[in-house]
Amino acid sequence: MNTHVITVLAGDGIGLEVMPVAMEVLEAAIEGHDVRLEWREQPWGSDYYRQHGRMMPTDAITTMTATDAIFLGAVGHPDVSDVETLWGMLIPIRREFDQYVNLRPVRSFSGVRSSLAGDPEIDVVIVRENVEGEYSAVGGRSYQGTPFEAAHQQSIFTRHGIERITRFAVEVAQGRSGRLVSATKSNGIIHTMPFWDEVVAEVVAQSDGVQLESVLIDALAARAVRSPQSIDVIVASNLFGDILSDLVAGAVGSIGIAPSANLNPEREHPSMFEPVHGSAPDIAGRGIANPIGQIWAGAMMLRHLGHDDIATGLEEAFTAVLERGEVTPDLGGSLSTVEVGAAVIAELRRRR
Ligand code: NAI
Ligand code: MG
Repeated sequence: MNTHVITVLAGDGIGLEVMPVAMEVLEAAIEGHDVRLEWREQPWGSDYYRQHGRMMPTDAITTMTATDAIFLGAVGHPDVSDVETLWGMLIPIRREFDQYVNLRPVRSFSGVRSSLAGDPEIDVVIVRENVEGEYSAVGGRSYQGTPFEAAHQQSIFTRHGIERITRFAVEVAQGRSGRLVSATKSNGIIHTMPFWDEVVAEVVAQSDGVQLESVLIDALAARAVRSPQSIDVIVASNLFGDILSDLVAGAVGSIGIAPSANLNPEREHPSMFEPVHGSAPDIAGRGIANPIGQIWAGAMMLRHLGHDDIATGLEEAFTAVLERGEVTPDLGGSLSTVEVGAAVIAELRRRR
């Protein structure tokens, strides 16, 4: 029996609603296979913060090191600053475990109408740099409360960091159309972005079968809504990749479907799988959150753990459910979170 130990961090808000549903769906997906998932649920998040003054215990990273993957719902609560939730949990996990790739596939489904006119077919993979760039702790505030108050925030781009994210994106592109778009802003950000462009071009020049197009982020945002079909794989810095992936996910119809994998490709540390969406306090507690983003993230986790066949079967099952219109209100349906999970489980069993 192939046993994988999974750290489960349901987190906050709708994370607490979509996580149990996704866990049940994954259990159904592995039925009949020689695989066992051993869940290690941790109560970390904003409730834990209110009791302990921190999002997770000091030995959390050590606790998770011994597990094979991390399955995360969402963190964030209106009463706790996003700086605490993000820098107290998500960012330390990504950095301590060197999860330098944030992989975000986005595609349209025939049952889900795009927010864009003409309902274009979208099938894009965004490869976002996940541990450096614009999201840095270097900087500070000065002269607070005076008219001279100032804030400084330093971006950090390293050759090593740009090379490795580009190499990963090149491999993704080689497995698809071979077309790679690099998101840049070298006309306005004149130190880091020209460096990004140079290193990306060097790495692509050493690779076979990949055609590189460097596009300014503003123009790329416009292109992503005007002609998303013209884009296949995007490599982007931490900030640009974050914004673009929400943009493209929104264009598909709902952010509630989109998954994301925080990968340590060398497998020296556990990788983390989560939906793109946050804790959605506006709908939390109503049982109507779309669980597909969490379920799809679970499929990516199974693929990473070496179970391509199970992952593909699960993707086919939730695709069928989406195409039949068995969906939550964000997609125009009337099913609850639990009902969508049950529909996916029923579909998995029907296909067995
Ligand atoms: P959000 O993604 O939580 O919500 C944005 C909008 O999309 C809301 O109207 C929400 O109702 C809707 N939505 C999101 N997921 C949905 C789902 N599964 N089904 C149906 N509708 C869904 O982003 P927002 O409101 O900017 O952030 C809320 C909190 O989440 C903040 O504290 C933020 O920092 C945090 N956050 C956490 C993330 C994470 O844990 N990785 C990522 C993004 C935000
Ligand atoms: Mg985001």
